[in-house]
Amino acid sequence: MFLGIDLGTSGAKLLVTDAGQSVVAEAHAPVASLKLPAPLSEQDPADWITTIEQALGQIAAAHPGLMAQVRGIGLSGHMHGAVLLDKSDRVLRPCIMWNDGRAAQECADLTALADFEGIGGNLVMAGFTAPKLLWVQRHQPDIFDRIFRVLLPKDYVRLWLTGDHVAEMSDAAGTLWLDVAGRKWSPDLLDATGLTEAQMPALVEGTGVSGTLRPALCEKWGFAPGTLVAGGAGDNAAAACGMGIVEDGAFVSLGTSGVVFAPTKTFRPNTKQGVHSFCHAVPGTWHQMGVILAAASCLDWQARIMGRDVGAMLSLLSDRIETPSPIRFLPYLTGVRTPHNDPTAQASFHGLTAQTDPADMVQAVLEGVGYALKDCVDALAAAGTTIDQAYAVGGGSRSRAWLQIIADICDVTLLTPERGEYGAAFGAARLAQAAVAGGYDAALFAKPAVAQVIRPDATRSATYATAHAEWRGLYAAS
Ligand code: XUL
Repeated sequence: MFLGIDLGTSGAKLLVTDAGQSVVAEAHAPVASLKLPAPLSEQDPADWITTIEQALGQIAAAHPGLMAQVRGIGLSGHMHGAVLLDKSDRVLRPCIMWNDGRAAQECADLTALADFEGIGGNLVMAGFTAPKLLWVQRHQPDIFDRIFRVLLPKDYVRLWLTGDHVAEMSDAAGTLWLDVAGRKWSPDLLDATGLTEAQMPALVEGTGVSGTLRPALCEKWGFAPGTLVAGGAGDNAAAACGMGIVEDGAFVSLGTSGVVFAPTKTFRPNTKQGVHSFCHAVPGTWHQMGVILAAASCLDWQARIMGRDVGAMLSLLSDRIETPSPIRFLPYLTGVRTPHNDPTAQASFHGLTAQTDPADMVQAVLEGVGYALKDCVDALAAAGTTIDQAYAVGGGSRSRAWLQIIADICDVTLLTPERGEYGAAFGAARLAQAAVAGGYDAALFAKPAVAQVIRPDATRSATYATAHAEWRGLYAAS
């Protein structure tokens, strides 16, 4: 048996798989963010442990004796967060999260200080870890001076599980301190932030072994002594592992944020268009991602301000959208990473008239997210990765109408996976299985069966190509 733990922004998901990768147990528990004004976003790492213990408690209660059969644990988690520890491993301040936008000035400053684009392979973006540390150095110097170690969120969970300070490549790349091609910490990039390699955790591959479970936890939860903890992965790479998107393939995720993800056999950055070029969770592989910070959350926002639920709003639209809405929506409610790297970008509607009805505006929101995802597909294409076909996942992918719009706008065939598990927790369990088996084995990373194939329509794609070009002009003019 293998336990996958995914530390998500709003809660943790745990699941246990057997050797055939069937899910035999599952648990969820919520986690709260601290109440802070935008663009701040923080969580208390102690809450993550409480949450995970709660979920472990659910599994232990529902499946007595199961923990003793677990041979490996895999970890996944939200990326880029800064957990700062003193020399006794005490947390020095709340974790500054991936969606915290306070470090805009520090991004510009770091860019001038070291070759983040060349070595780190990425633009310095406000969500990433390095600019957050420069912010702490400037605004909370007492805390900065006491930093003994910097960990990513899931690696703090690992510290609790194993007592070891270890990171793995996919998440470590999102700090911006990694030499991404060389898969090792970069002393130059760390130095630009006033840090040294001694303050970084050790590095393993996602399919490697990072340590063993602490005896006290084995005893408390009934795990066998010596249970292995695998490297695991950042949440997007873990989700890719869950879908078998390791050596090839692609996925589009419509969650709070929107992601276009594709593995690459070599390190292939495109910093100019804000492509994220990170290590994958498997040795000798990398991946590219286009990330927009609001996707399904745009529809949730619209439902809230229109005083309807999402289902009621989607039912305003006809089953088949033949022409673009006359209204255009820029979906930058919380800034945007790819392709503009603009944490201060704002959302807006364009083209409103006295005739505009709610259906036009709902369609505009679905299309606005679609156009932004098309920007990501184009940015990956400019970095040598052409996407013709991608799995569609995340809450927004439950809307067939939205998927058709995205397929038409992006000119990409979308595949929905059959019901079942393929998310980040499942990917983490697969990485645990690989670690127990001694390393990566393609047979452990199969792709899910396809439930629906949503093909782009050539006529609508051509109309949307014109609309997308107009839509792009709106950001340029803003
Ligand atoms: C990726 C990113 C998010 C977080 C939260 O770069 O910032 O996907 O990992 O899920």
